Amino acid sequence: MKQIIIFLFLSTLFLATSCDDDDNPMDGQSDDLTDIPYTPVAYDLVVPCDFPEMEIPVDNPIMVDGVELGRFLFYDPILSADSTMSCSSCHLPSGSFTDNLALSTGIDGIAGRRSSMSLLNVGYFNTGLFWDGRVVTLEEQALLPVEDPVELHHTWPDIVSKLKVHDTYPEMFRKAFGISSTTEITKELAAKAIAQFERTLVSSGQSKYDQSRCAEPAVFLSPQEQEGAVLFSFEEDNHPGCTHCHKVFNQMFTDNTFTNNGLTDIGGGEVDNLSNYPDLGLGEVTGSIFDNGKFRVPSLRNIAMTAPYMHDGKFQTLEEVLDHYSSGFHDAANIDPDMSPFQMTEDEKAALIAFLNTLTDQEFMNNPAHQSPF
Ligand code: HEC
Ligand code: HEC
Repeated sequence: MKQIIIFLFLSTLFLATSCDDDDNPMDGQSDDLTDIPYTPVAYDLVVPCDFPEMEIPVDNPIMVDGVELGRFLFYDPILSADSTMSCSSCHLPSGSFTDNLALSTGIDGIAGRRSSMSLLNVGYFNTGLFWDGRVVTLEEQALLPVEDPVELHHTWPDIVSKLKVHDTYPEMFRKAFGISSTTEITKELAAKAIAQFERTLVSSGQSKYDQSRCAEPAVFLSPQEQEGAVLFSFEEDNHPGCTHCHKVFNQMFTDNTFTNNGLTDIGGGEVDNLSNYPDLGLGEVTGSIFDNGKFRVPSLRNIAMTAPYMHDGKFQTLEEVLDHYSSGFHDAANIDPDMSPFQMTEDEKAALIAFLNTLTDQEFMNNPAHQSPF
């Protein structure tokens, strides 16, 4: 501990002295960046064979230097008030960009009310982000955690001031966006860069499931995995019917809608009981009581890597999730009509989980391009 304090003290001293350098932008004068070349190059986004095309906003194309800047910002604790946390603290590559906690905790040690979400393929989720869909674009989203009191608890004006006088960020903003002066560094550009980085977080195509569709020579699922795939997809009464909501046609394993899958006991199926949800979900956003208890249908890609499960992290294992769907869910006036109980044998449950495991994409999590640059 003592060494750390001495080190911090020395580095503060060093920083303080280095401010006096004539050419250091910290003096507030030398903010011209036009000497630095601006040569934008489009980022080549490679996706598995039958993925849909990602919708990318025209005013924020994915560029090589924008992605690099976004990656630095995503991993840099400069975004938190006490410089201890970054986006990556709750979105770690090793957890498929979740924190593997039931509820995420911010810099002040206060637990938030929801579970972190995987950012795998997040560029495809265009119907509303977060568990409740309260923001639409990644550009808007990236601004929020910074000022959220239970997350990074900082302010954008402070961060922008730090970025303007930083050793490396002014040059990176110039290369990413062609700005000519540090005065043009804004929170909006920071958010755009983070969004560009996030859109590169796509499946590698190396999961067994993707290989079974895309690889040549073909890779085959085992008989047990195939049995699980059938159980997963079959849409009839008294059958799991997972694909009613976790759609596979778009390869995302979600239809990107918001619905009630009966997680919480609110005391019965009468309309009045809909006010009893501790977290209203979509209802908090729309103000309609009939949206209370509705949450986004999440993708199931890399699901084996992102426990605990659901918006409140209530299930530790996929077995518990299957028990919920087979018999454990709670009634509500707005329960999704596709939620119907079904019984599965232990072998069938094991098959369904074996299929879900084929969605594991280790290459995505280990991809050096997605890791911390620090
Ligand atoms: C303290 C933990 C924490 C930090 C720090 C954090 N997040 Fe999150 N993130 C969460 C949680 C929890 C959710 C779900 C919140 C909700 O639904 O209300 C989430 C959701 C998201 C989503 C929505 C994903 C989707 O599919 O809808 C994105 C994108 C995201 N975070 C990106 C970021 C970025 C970028 C940063 C840094 C600027 C960041 N997060 C910092 C915990 C965190
Ligand atoms: C009626 C629509 C619907 C059906 C049918 C359905 N799900 Fe879900 N699923 C959801 C919703 C909505 C959530 C998120 C709920 C929440 O967190 O509040 C969810 C969450 C999950 C999660 C947790 C994901 C995470 O990131 O935490 C898993 C795993 C899951 N479902 C698997 C399945 C399986 C397997 C089946 C078939 C047995 C199935 N689901 C059937 C709507 C559905």
